Amino acid sequence: MRLFEVYPLFNVEPVEADGCLVYDRQHTAYLDFYGGHAVISIGHGHPHYVERVTEQLGKLGFYSNSVPITIQKDLAHKLGEVCGYYNWNLFLCNSGAEAIENALKVASAYNQRKKIVAFDGAFHGRTSLAVAATHNPDILFPVNEGAEVVRFAFEDFEGVEAELKKGDISSVLIEGIQGVAGIIEPSADFLRHLRTLCDETDTILILDEVQSGFGRTGRFFAHQHAFIQPDIITIAKGMGNGFPVGGIITHPKFEAKHGMLGTTFGGNHLACAAALAVLEVIENEKLIKNAANVGNYLVEALKKIDEVKEVRGRGLMIGAEFGFPVADLRKRLLYEQHVFTGSSSNKNIIRLLPPLNITYKEADQFIDSLKEALK
Ligand SMILES: Cc1ncc(COP(=O)(O)O)c(C=O)c1O
Repeated sequence: MRLFEVYPLFNVEPVEADGCLVYDRQHTAYLDFYGGHAVISIGHGHPHYVERVTEQLGKLGFYSNSVPITIQKDLAHKLGEVCGYYNWNLFLCNSGAEAIENALKVASAYNQRKKIVAFDGAFHGRTSLAVAATHNPDILFPVNEGAEVVRFAFEDFEGVEAELKKGDISSVLIEGIQGVAGIIEPSADFLRHLRTLCDETDTILILDEVQSGFGRTGRFFAHQHAFIQPDIITIAKGMGNGFPVGGIITHPKFEAKHGMLGTTFGGNHLACAAALAVLEVIENEKLIKNAANVGNYLVEALKKIDEVKEVRGRGLMIGAEFGFPVADLRKRLLYEQHVFTGSSSNKNIIRLLPPLNITYKEADQFIDSLKEALK
């Protein structure tokens, strides 16, 4: 059997990793400013993470959600404590797209409506409702066309208001900071406007924090910079530091009913051990503060580079926009400077999503490599 080839690949295969570095078979080190697409939050191979997951595997790797799973409750408790949503509820699944599907379902179960408001540039995943809410016709197929999605430009205050006031929108779905689109942040005013409108019209506000959550932006969730509370928050990526785990955090007003949602693998023992290890390391090593500090440092350094036209983002979710397509620059960074970076749907943008424990030294190393690659 061969692979169903859907990914354009870089010609480097990491086979080992440590912290912010990944190594190929020849043991060449690469600086990881991509984090496997914002997934590596506490660094590769963190000893506490390895120990906790290994210990759990030695005890019990998996049993289904038909039995009590104490480690799920431990995770919910710890997550509530670290993110500040103490009295909210957690449903665990396996990926970001699944989190979106479940969030949209909970919203629809609550207000018995089916339309979704989503935004230009949005990326929410590739399953049926998630891909319908995503703004990319190239990954949408006839089978995905059932969902009723009404799309607006970011910051279209009036458009969204008029739509919500019709009273038939189930939920508004918005990323804390748009990642795939090239690091586009909704203004605090726009988020507050959405909050007020959702309250007035019994519409559910869903914040997609799959990429921007878990401390990446210098707060636990990106929307916390705007001091608003959504009704449902979706999480994944950095949550497991590479272990597939996702979830939704729901306001106490949503009532869970047996059978309403479900999953075989979601919330399994190993996934919970991984997510708990991530939260413990984030807390013990003050990684949210580190993300804010090193992120600011990187942004300031990037702004001093002539070829960089604009720098956007918060913490360690950064987009550097150039006046030209960056595909060749990213190749030079990888093959000559040995640095992994991310792309975006805007061809002129390099997306930086390094582990939250990068050091100032590694930030300097990245800036030096970028300057070399630009020569
Ligand atoms: C904001 C956002 N939401 C949802 C997803 C989908 O997550 P997954 O690939 O785990 O299904 C992604 C993935 O890139 C994302 O960036």
